[in-house]
Amino acid sequence: MTTPKAATLTIGEQSIELPLIEGTEGEVGIDISQLRAKTGAVTFDPAFGNTGACTSAITFIDGEKGILRYRGIPIDQFQKSPNFIEVAWLLIFGRLPKKDELQRFSEKLTAHAHLHEAMKHHFEGFPVNAPPMAILSAMINAMSCFDEHFGRFEDDEQIEDAAARLISRVRTIAAYSYRRTNGLPFMYPDPSLRYVANFLHMMFSMPYNQYIAEDEVDEALNLFLILHADHEQNCSTSTVRVVGSSQANLFASCAAGVGALWGPLHGGANVAVIDMLEKIRSGGLSAEKCLELAKDKNSGFKLMGFGHRVYKNFDPRAKILKAQSDKVLKKLGVQDPLLEIAQELEEAALKDQYFVDRKLYPNVDFYSGIILRAIGIPVEMFTVMFAIGRLPGWISQWREQHDDTSTRIARPRQIYTGNTLTDYTPMSER
Ligand code: CMC
Repeated sequence: MTTPKAATLTIGEQSIELPLIEGTEGEVGIDISQLRAKTGAVTFDPAFGNTGACTSAITFIDGEKGILRYRGIPIDQFQKSPNFIEVAWLLIFGRLPKKDELQRFSEKLTAHAHLHEAMKHHFEGFPVNAPPMAILSAMINAMSCFDEHFGRFEDDEQIEDAAARLISRVRTIAAYSYRRTNGLPFMYPDPSLRYVANFLHMMFSMPYNQYIAEDEVDEALNLFLILHADHEQNCSTSTVRVVGSSQANLFASCAAGVGALWGPLHGGANVAVIDMLEKIRSGGLSAEKCLELAKDKNSGFKLMGFGHRVYKNFDPRAKILKAQSDKVLKKLGVQDPLLEIAQELEEAALKDQYFVDRKLYPNVDFYSGIILRAIGIPVEMFTVMFAIGRLPGWISQWREQHDDTSTRIARPRQIYTGNTLTDYTPMSER
């Protein structure tokens, strides 16, 4: 069946034609950009569940089929060969890098891994128990003070320079915030190490004892980062785009993305999942009670790591992480009782009519914490790890919007439901 070219909307006596826009995978959108001008009405779509806010050529998701592709490449093809940096370049520049391009990008990352010494002092101003997501957001924003010349980009080379700085330094900032919380000396980045190994070195080495990551740990973390690298117009990415649409700089836009990611319904879910599994393990909550609470709308409780706005099928990232968590734990000789609890909980939920009816499946956050725990990342750093992974996605989406000459400032409308015209009452008469 061929897709019609327009939709007809009738409001009272008036009928108008609304053009249709079709994506390369056949997804159809109704272009309502002239709706208000022609009819005076706006659409009402709180939480944007039916709103396409942009066109994008970066990531494709078919939530009904459980498909995720970066620049057309299925997510499961990233399981073996590439490293996270190659995937980052692919997302930002739209194609796989050639050998010399990857080499150049890697060299830029190495050259810019260190923080300005003045930036290091900022960490001292935070309370020792400051949430690492707060530190991350503040420090990414602070980067715009040290790299002011990146306020505007003239060409791709400048974008590549800024991306290399951000992607490289986010891991230094993350590691330093962990060191500061734990009263440990800052470890400078080691230029001889690759991306993941260098991060683990900054997290876990001591001045008198170099931490050397096992290959399995390196591979598992690399995969974790790749699986988190982009997910089209999710809450934090949309935040980055909204901020970027005002022509705020890349650093300020990504700092805002960190804030959005922090919440437990988004990236913060990876912490909430472990809290929930820990409660079950310690006997404070049973798996049955957990499902019962999740089904009770008055409880305020949700089965964390389950459900997704877009996926109405298995989240392909969760499938890969589940398979990997088994493997990684075995390879590292780690026995984590939380893995068994998670598997049992998943099995029970997938059989439960409430979850079946609503098509609720495990999402990326359900198993990711098990892997992070196995490689020694403390739970308070989990959402920061998500942010490190998502950064290439934020940068690529920001760049796509920046390069699109039709971009306008994001500015939704509202349906006003407050007082109609009301006179001011002087203080003495209230
Ligand atoms: N536990 C219990 N009920 C749920 C859950 C859940 N985890 N998720 C959705 N529902 C219910 C929801 O209450 C609604 O019920 P009803 O139709 O009776 O009103 C129904 O399922 C459909 O929900 P929805 O409209 O698909 O949900 P949403 O798109 O508004 O929210 C979500 C998506 C991810 C915020 C939600 O599923 C949730 O809160 N999950 C738990 C938190 C979580 O794991 N977040 C990580 C998301 S994936 C990674 C990321 O993006 O950061």
